[in-house]
Amino acid sequence: MNRHISPEFDRSAAASLFHGDRLRLLGQLPSGAARLVVTSPPYNIGKRYEKRSTLNEYLEGQRATLREAVRVLATNGSLCWQVGNHVADGEVFPLDMLLYPICKELGLRLRNRIVWHFEHGLHCSRRLSGRYETIIWFTKSDDYIFNVDPIRVPQKYPGKKAFKGPHKGEYTCNPAGKNPGDVWIIPNVKHNHVEKTDHPCQFPIELVERLVLALTNEHDLVVDPYMGVGTAACAAVIHSRRAAGADVCLPYVTIARDRVTAALEGRLSRRPMRRPVYVPDPGLKILRRAEAIDYPELPLADPDEPETQASETTV
Ligand SMILES: C[S@@+](CC[C@H](N)C(=O)[O-])C[C@H]1O[C@@H](n2cnc3c(N)ncnc32)[C@H](O)[C@@H]1O
Repeated sequence: MNRHISPEFDRSAAASLFHGDRLRLLGQLPSGAARLVVTSPPYNIGKRYEKRSTLNEYLEGQRATLREAVRVLATNGSLCWQVGNHVADGEVFPLDMLLYPICKELGLRLRNRIVWHFEHGLHCSRRLSGRYETIIWFTKSDDYIFNVDPIRVPQKYPGKKAFKGPHKGEYTCNPAGKNPGDVWIIPNVKHNHVEKTDHPCQFPIELVERLVLALTNEHDLVVDPYMGVGTAACAAVIHSRRAAGADVCLPYVTIARDRVTAALEGRLSRRPMRRPVYVPDPGLKILRRAEAIDYPELPLADPDEPETQASETTV
């Protein structure tokens, strides 16, 4: 794969990393050029990289981005919008709920609402601390690319065998792993994360890597209109896809260029796909305190009651 990085859209470049507004980059792309548009837009919560506006103004801005994103999307392409909540005066507005009707008006079809769960974040004092965000995955038509094999995860019981029927004694589950489902537990990028840059809210590479592998083929174009430090572009080039992205903030574009260069040269620091979430060693000093903590008393479990199985609670 060539290693050319262009500052404007160039269909033959490995990556086009544009400094400027997302609509100016999208305007350079021919209709139908992208197999995947994947992004995490600003949430209009006053982060250092956004101007706070009214919710209606914000949603109109998103509508303009989405309209252009749909135009540049191939008929068998996918659009993934990764969002959390807009918060105003302590009230929470889930952005996926607000963006869904806009995506439907634009003719998109929802395939999954993926819950991304992580363990670290702000501690709230007047509501429960937020520990998930969502990715709404839409397609432009019913004929779309979906390669589940590259994103399979290990089976829980790989040694399980059929105990009756024509396949008695044979393994029952796919040795290549299972479909990862629609709840993804992937650590968010905090200070001690190997992928951390100067950006306050970057994607972990694995999050977008799963989407790139499942929803595109090699050499396809992956577009991120709000690319930040270029995580989607890195995931794309690591897997031999082409990338295009825009950001209004020059320092982020500079970091994106450095990261994509490192990714193209195979030297980008990253958390590998499928690495289990870190569980602290029970011997660690940080797990102990001199005096015991007084947790509120909980009712004792009935020792005769069997533990509930997930399948029994499914309705
Ligand atoms: C949530 S961050 C995206 C982070 C990105 N996913 C990453 O992994 O680095 C949103 C980004 O949108 C950029 N942004 C804000 N307004 C923009 C606009 N009008 N056009 C392009 N980028 C914009 C911000 O500078 C910010 O870096």
